Amino acid sequence: MILLNVRNMSDQDLFQGWLNGEISRSIRYNHPFSLVILEINLKEEGSFSKDEVFNEFIRMLKYTTRESDVISRFGDVGIMAILPETGKKGGCVFAERIRGLAKDLFDRASITLSAGIASFPEDGKTSSLLYKKACDALQKAKEKGGNEIMVSRDFNIVLIGFMGAGKTKVGTRLAEKLGMGFVDIDDLIETKAGMKISQIFSEFGESYFRDLERKEVEHVSNLTNYVISPGGGAILNKDNMDALRKNGILIYLKASAEVIFERTCHTSHRPLLENVSPYEQIKKLLRYRAPFYEASDYTIDTSNLNIEEVVTKIIEYIKDRKLTCQ
Ligand code: S3P
Repeated sequence: MILLNVRNMSDQDLFQGWLNGEISRSIRYNHPFSLVILEINLKEEGSFSKDEVFNEFIRMLKYTTRESDVISRFGDVGIMAILPETGKKGGCVFAERIRGLAKDLFDRASITLSAGIASFPEDGKTSSLLYKKACDALQKAKEKGGNEIMVSRDFNIVLIGFMGAGKTKVGTRLAEKLGMGFVDIDDLIETKAGMKISQIFSEFGESYFRDLERKEVEHVSNLTNYVISPGGGAILNKDNMDALRKNGILIYLKASAEVIFERTCHTSHRPLLENVSPYEQIKKLLRYRAPFYEASDYTIDTSNLNIEEVVTKIIEYIKDRKLTCQ
């Protein structure tokens, strides 16, 4: 472990220099690396002084880091670590290990340990961007009450599926749980047009609506850290699908025609289902659209699941893909 003597947040030049050096090395050897910020939150002040905690922290790190890891102080009771040749998953494992050790070490003082992680190159290619991403992730972890390990999320979660699949309800809850933003494309269209979707369909026709939809999808696809819910027909347009894929993981919320019928038959805001025989219409559209929906990264059959269960499945999936350490 290389311990840098960087005490103040305003005196970051040395650390910045190492970070830039690691960026150059990682580009040369085509390796990722991680920047991990760990901060101890003392629940009961007084049992240990901040310096004591920091020194204990460093002593513990000496046994758990590699020679090539670079550590510097972060605030009073935190450290910043550059972990060469370590991707986001490795950064999470590191933070998790330290958290376990710190818990044993400082048990009497009752601590929580929050972590923010950003990795090169996926979260940024400059030292300032990586630093910002790791700090943002740490901030989020602390806001969640400490004892959290957060990674910088440079991706969106896109929920696709037929009308009534639960995209909006699941999306709202998922965003809340993951601390991400939520955006419903239909809501954006309605706000910008100043009228309801059904009114746009009846006054201007479906292709006019699809144009508005395409513009909003394009705009929203450039964002990151959002759960996005596009309308059920957005994925029929290849441009939309490509745009949503750019920063997004596509999750298909699947449901049977019977379940969709049950969920939608008491509502009247979906022009495509204002049909003499909505059940037949659902079956027909589902048959046609199934291959478009199936082209997602992950499918969840929501027919027999409640909202919380679907949200849990999505979080498990993104955890498996090592996109979050929560
Ligand atoms: C549509 C689905 C609707 C809405 C519009 C068209 C579709 O959104 O965009 O009525 O083609 O499936 P929801 O899937 O959110 O209901």
